Amino acid sequence: MFDRHRKLRRTPTIRKMVKETHLHKEDLIYPIFIIEAPDQKKEIPSMPGIYQISLNRLEEELDDVYQLGIRSIILFGIPLHKDACGTEGYHDHGIIQEGIRKVKSLYPDMVVLADTCLCEYTDHGHCGLIDEHTHDVKNDETLELLVKTAVSQAKAGADIIAPSNMMDGFVTSIRQGLDDAGFEHIPIMSYGIKYSSSFYGPFRDAAESTPSFGDRKTYQMDSSNRLEAMRELESDLMEGADMMIVKPALSYLDIIRDVRNSCNIPVVAYNVSGEYSMVKAASANGWIDERTNVMEQMTSMKRAGADLIITYFAKDICKYLDEER
Ligand code: PBG
Ligand code: ZN
Repeated sequence: MFDRHRKLRRTPTIRKMVKETHLHKEDLIYPIFIIEAPDQKKEIPSMPGIYQISLNRLEEELDDVYQLGIRSIILFGIPLHKDACGTEGYHDHGIIQEGIRKVKSLYPDMVVLADTCLCEYTDHGHCGLIDEHTHDVKNDETLELLVKTAVSQAKAGADIIAPSNMMDGFVTSIRQGLDDAGFEHIPIMSYGIKYSSSFYGPFRDAAESTPSFGDRKTYQMDSSNRLEAMRELESDLMEGADMMIVKPALSYLDIIRDVRNSCNIPVVAYNVSGEYSMVKAASANGWIDERTNVMEQMTSMKRAGADLIITYFAKDICKYLDEER
């Protein structure tokens, strides 16, 4: 005597009926890199299909994104001038602030997330102010600049603030700063569970944010640690995070599941640049089938417990979903 599990796998329709995990366009958040240099749409060599786009070329990209059914994007800015304090990051007319304004004027119902960090704006490429003696990133002094960055992004029209710099207390400080400036209604999507990872390499090409010395291991998490993620989650919840990002995604599906089981706010998987590049490289060589592989990966993130996915594949996925119907 044995169970006949194949009964429920017999036809495509039966398989659809018993499908446990579904992916929708509403689950997707698409990252866009906006560059301050004029009139550019430059493909990032390590990320085929992803571009650094100037403000004046943004509209054509947005039309495409909107048409495909994407209603949520996360913006990264690449300024012309960088300095030790990342001044352009919190300038009211900096590249990301102007980018946010442009998107909201063209597509008011597009949900615009602003990545709140300083590494794209500092000349040393670290996520905050450097202590001249220890050469480490200073925590509390950096928080003040992060608050200025978040408030200037909210003023420009950002719908969600997504701080990614991993200073202790960043959710508390930003929440307070937003509230004081009259932005009590703006949620914080915290990148509080962010591992120090080799998967960020292509992003740093795209954002021109590779640290000029050292690494980010004193502020990003050690990939060996699982309990530490629970501590980060606990403090972010206490500090008022409205949504929680786990990053990267694929090598951290166990963490996504832990987080899903340990809180009741939306959980977001960040399917990072290196995860994108690996698929693109393998499929360009004909080693995997890109479409099937991408859908399998997305499903695995949702199955692990992610409610939303930030992914460079968002446009491709929308096309696949349209074709499936
Ligand atoms: C910077 C930031 C990083 C990413 C998003 N915001 C990475 C880093 O630490 O350099 C990574 C995104 C990706 O790899 O796609 N705070
Ligand atoms: Zn950073």
